[in-house]
Amino acid sequence: MAPTSLSLNFNFKVTATATNLPELSEKIRNSRVLVLGGTGRVGGSTATALSNLCPDLRIIVAGRNREKGEALVAKLGGNSGFAHVDFNDVNSLETALEGVDLVVHAAGPFQQTEKCSVLEAAINTKTAYIDVCDDTDYSRRAKSFMSRALAANVPAITTTGIYPGVSNVMAAELVRVAESETEVKPEKLRFYYYTAGTGGAGPTILATSFLLLGEEVVAYNKGEKIKLKPYSGMLKIDFGRGIGKRDVYLLNLPEVRSAHEILGVPSVSARFGTAPFFWNWGMEAMTKLLPSEYLRDRSKVQRLVELFDPVVRAMDGMAGERVSMRVDLECSSGRHTVGIFSHKSLSVSVGISTAAFALAVLEGSTQPGVWFPEETQGIPIEAREVLLKRASQGTINFAMNKLTFLSLCLFY
Ligand SMILES: NC(=O)c1ccc[n+]([C@@H]2O[C@H](COP(=O)([O-])OP(=O)(O)OC[C@H]3O[C@@H](n4cnc5c(N)ncnc54)[C@H](OP(=O)(O)O)[C@@H]3O)[C@@H](O)[C@H]2O)c1
Repeated sequence: MAPTSLSLNFNFKVTATATNLPELSEKIRNSRVLVLGGTGRVGGSTATALSNLCPDLRIIVAGRNREKGEALVAKLGGNSGFAHVDFNDVNSLETALEGVDLVVHAAGPFQQTEKCSVLEAAINTKTAYIDVCDDTDYSRRAKSFMSRALAANVPAITTTGIYPGVSNVMAAELVRVAESETEVKPEKLRFYYYTAGTGGAGPTILATSFLLLGEEVVAYNKGEKIKLKPYSGMLKIDFGRGIGKRDVYLLNLPEVRSAHEILGVPSVSARFGTAPFFWNWGMEAMTKLLPSEYLRDRSKVQRLVELFDPVVRAMDGMAGERVSMRVDLECSSGRHTVGIFSHKSLSVSVGISTAAFALAVLEGSTQPGVWFPEETQGIPIEAREVLLKRASQGTINFAMNKLTFLSLCLFY
């Protein structure tokens, strides 16, 4: 694998290769991990990445589609198996979790979901838990299980993956380094994301995007919570090598609130953009033409997905699958640092990123309770470097704490 340039601090550089990652203990190598939604793109990619990072791991691909599950199991080889699980059937879920060390919940969409049944089953069966949730309400509901997870001694992290997930850890590191090296205070944190087409992800990603268009965007301006129109506030952002300048728009994403509350940054917002450029126009038009109640209705959105999916997939062939995240931190003195993470394929990179969180939990980094990735009880400071090294394998550009003199002069 080609080395990935990783600058964790602007005055020192390390090189991330599979060879300079810590050895996994025998206990971890023999662990059992159940990937729910393993029949889908994100779950399948996570199972594949886990198998590459730790070939001895016992991986259970779980979902409702036996044919797809067994096809993946055949690729993963020896230590893997399939379990037929519908997470709405508590009995099948809890039975499948018996003897499992960690469950990875990748069976989205998480938007407009009433219950955290997988987390609840993980707590009941004393199984460690991570999810790839990208919904603010769901992540808050997951957090409300804190006392039950503590009582059951179960470690859990909500909103892992690439974004949210790795982006939260990048933000936490930017803030930590700024606070440790200067007298200045972090003032503005901005998450910028770009994914070409669907990034090679499954149909659920389209449903997720449409459902998010029905949500008012929560951002923070000088400590005050503000509500903004979805897919508004366009900015042209330079994502650097391999990606270039892209238009990005406001979206309601859980890392905005968690970063504001946990990292204590007064102004935080998140923007997202896609390609080809006219998909951005289409998303903007949808927020203007369709009532938000329509866009929040899962069954109506499912019909929209069925309508648009073939066209979107056809365009994916042209757009590619590239993904990029840029996290910007501005401090009171005008000090401005940036973290960048770009990969040729969202569907590959999200699996590697989720697998990096899974290994951190198996290594015992996470305390009992339900945590966000930027909380030190979820991923402690000393575990962040290894997590970022694992997650950034295969990236075309990865840099942390790059100083920049360019001020974007934004208000939120
Ligand atoms: N945090 C991040 O970085 C990040 C990045 C990208 C995507 N995501 C999120 O990841 C989720 C999955 O996306 P994807 O592209 O992998 O979608 P996908 O390919 O459609 O996969 C979703 C999987 O969930 C399974 N599933 C759905 N309902 C289920 C149920 N009741 N019981 C068991 N399995 C069930 C589906 O199985 P069936 O075949 O049985 O329907 C399918 O295999 C989405 O919510 C997306 O928003 C997160």
